[in-house]
Amino acid sequence: MAKLINNSLSAKSPIKKVAVIGAGTMGAGIAGQVANAGVEVWLLDLPSSGDSVNALAERGFKRLKNLNSPGLMSNEAGQLIHCGNTEDDFAQLANCDWIAEAVVERLDVKQALYQRIDAITGPDTIVTSNTSTIPISLLTKGMPQAFCERFAITHFFNPVRFMRLLELVRGEHTRDDVIDTLDEFCESNLGKGVVVCEDTPGFLGNRVGVFAIQCALHTAFNMNLSPAEADALFGRPMGIPKTGVFGLYDLIGIDLMADVAKSLQSILPAGDEFHQYAQPIALMTQMVVNGQTGNKGGQGFYRDTESGKEVLNLANGVYQPTSRLQLPLAQKAEAHGVAELLDDDSAYGRFAWQVLSSTLNYAASLIPEIGSNILPIDDAMKLGYNWIYGPFELLDQIGAQRVVERMQQEDREVAPMLLLAAKTQGFYQVIDEQLCSLDQCGDYVAIKRPSGVLRFSELRQTLTPEYSNTKASWFVHNNAAIVEFHSKANALDKDSMDVIRHALEQAEKRQLRGVVLHNDAQHFSCGVNLTAFRGFFETENYTGIDHFLNYFQQTMHAINTCPLPVIAAPAGMSIGGGFEVVLAADHVIGHANSVMGLVEASVGVVPGGGGCKEYLYRWYEVLGDIKAAAWKAFMLVGYGWTAKSPIEATEQAMLYPEDQYMMNRDRLLSEALSQLDKVKKAKPRKPLPMAGEDTYREMMDWLFEAEDQQKITSHDVAVGSELARIFTGGKIKPNTMMSEQDLFDLERESFLRLAKSSATQARIVSMLDQGSPIRN
Ligand code: NAI
Repeated sequence: MAKLINNSLSAKSPIKKVAVIGAGTMGAGIAGQVANAGVEVWLLDLPSSGDSVNALAERGFKRLKNLNSPGLMSNEAGQLIHCGNTEDDFAQLANCDWIAEAVVERLDVKQALYQRIDAITGPDTIVTSNTSTIPISLLTKGMPQAFCERFAITHFFNPVRFMRLLELVRGEHTRDDVIDTLDEFCESNLGKGVVVCEDTPGFLGNRVGVFAIQCALHTAFNMNLSPAEADALFGRPMGIPKTGVFGLYDLIGIDLMADVAKSLQSILPAGDEFHQYAQPIALMTQMVVNGQTGNKGGQGFYRDTESGKEVLNLANGVYQPTSRLQLPLAQKAEAHGVAELLDDDSAYGRFAWQVLSSTLNYAASLIPEIGSNILPIDDAMKLGYNWIYGPFELLDQIGAQRVVERMQQEDREVAPMLLLAAKTQGFYQVIDEQLCSLDQCGDYVAIKRPSGVLRFSELRQTLTPEYSNTKASWFVHNNAAIVEFHSKANALDKDSMDVIRHALEQAEKRQLRGVVLHNDAQHFSCGVNLTAFRGFFETENYTGIDHFLNYFQQTMHAINTCPLPVIAAPAGMSIGGGFEVVLAADHVIGHANSVMGLVEASVGVVPGGGGCKEYLYRWYEVLGDIKAAAWKAFMLVGYGWTAKSPIEATEQAMLYPEDQYMMNRDRLLSEALSQLDKVKKAKPRKPLPMAGEDTYREMMDWLFEAEDQQKITSHDVAVGSELARIFTGGKIKPNTMMSEQDLFDLERESFLRLAKSSATQARIVSMLDQGSPIRN
């Protein structure tokens, strides 16, 4: 099993046993993540009168095993969770170091619980609430001082395992050691990006995030933009998830999102700008009455029908067909940056300006109310709302001065912090090779992250690339080479391979310590660039495909044979060609939530960069039986199976037991750099005795039978038969030896045959035209 790296902080945490009260969406998620970190946890809910007294907690536990978004990383983690109830098992709390309350958002219910908790726990037990809206002063009203000192808010985001943000809110009386212990445990053990914040309404993420959503929604309604138009702009072009605003409303639930806006409205002071955008919209109130609540209700602003996707006409409430909207302005901004949106004086440009200027100015106006530092706001939006850039980073991209001038021309009030940035050098500056942020007094203060935390997106601003093109770059840091992919979805092509080759060659020549393959995008790499492939087959340039595949394979081989150690430190998805890069490295230090696998079969091709070869070698090492190994690899690649954690990947021999994972993705780079000197080079691959024709025929029979039973299509049979050929060697005698290069050749030949098939080409074209669901 890939090993969890317990860094010095996580190992020394005094939190060894946890209790979570309330096993709903959040409580179960928190318990799951605590267990993922290897810590024992009691999950308590109210007792039930039915068959099982612990039915509510058990239901929460069961939800953690949801296949689409599993809260648990492994069965072992599940065994660390004890389900119980708040009557029979309350005494367990006396043995816990941290009690996380996540019951319904009702002050009376929470306060009654705290009374009971206080009665049975000692001065060292930390107690926190997951409340989104209730201030600490109210939560702890009437509680003894000693309780208030060990009380804080730990505000997790949903889904807990996958959302990186944790807002840690201290009360007036919270002890420093309580904040420090929670900060370290949540950051290091639970892998969260901890933002310590003041007890202000909505904290940081929701304060700015809900403002942005409501502002975009109201502005779209006021300007008569359709949901599709608004989402095409308030989405990827701004570095915001592509659901946009209406899509996000559908995703969260129109009823729930309306409640969130209402509750934020109820806790913000009267003069807050949010109130301008908080009023309910009549059409939406009616939608909730009609059951048009979004994805969960089957229809919201959008709906899927048999004849395709439809969008609601906001003027008359009627659905009409829609396709993916390609706005030239949005495409320009996606390619060249958010500032492009503001040069445009069409309705689209005006919408973008209105939403961006209001949201970014609002974020700036929160200084000093929420503290003197801009960094927590940027962190909160990136980690809690998946924005690629925080509001202040966006302002730097656009230019603070430009925003101020235009707002002043429009007679709008500009936040003092924004005015200050316009007069200085913006919000962020690199000074003496240190990334610094602007403070309220106009000084630039070096950004300090906890020891062992190194975000490449920050580090890279202080480095100069050794070699760079539009798809990738490489840098030297700590006497090691760091290769970063930075294309859309980190799709790989010849340029990406050029950078890897250059880094390998130069690192060796310059006697660097080794090479780390890492980046800070949402996904390490989503595979080979299909648009480039489309270009090849549409011009019938199959030699071009062959050359590229050969170059890809030889680059993977160069990673293997380069005398320096190469560590892959992936987070997010590493799929298809992206996973082939990971497979080529000598050692993997992956993020605990990494998704990995060879998914080429779902595109209608086979892995052509050494992925099939690697699966076969690895399964052969595990099983010692080439026929059984061929079947394992055939099934994994044939179904395009992906592992949802490094643990699952190791169980399927996709990673080695020596490979490692970390709970916090911000620690991967630092750990990889520190381990370079310890990593052993992988041994060169010896020739394999192939399973040969008998197994090949068995696989073909399996494919035909599955086709007869209508479990797979005839095109799946075509892909499967190529995989059968690669994994067995085809119609050759059993035990015929094949070298690594022979296997590379088999992969390439099969890939080419499939690339010429009209069914594969149609599948790729259709995927590209629908738009990739993946972003970085
Ligand atoms: P939920 O409604 O899914 O679950 C609440 C659970 O608390 C239920 O299982 C209920 O049976 C249990 N419960 C109620 N009274 C109890 C008591 N006296 N003792 C033990 N258990 C009791 O609620 P959810 O969404 O999990 O929210 C929990 C807390 O987290 C709330 O304070 C909410 O504001 C906050 N929150 C919710 C987020 C979300 O996205 N759902 C995000 C961040 C915070």
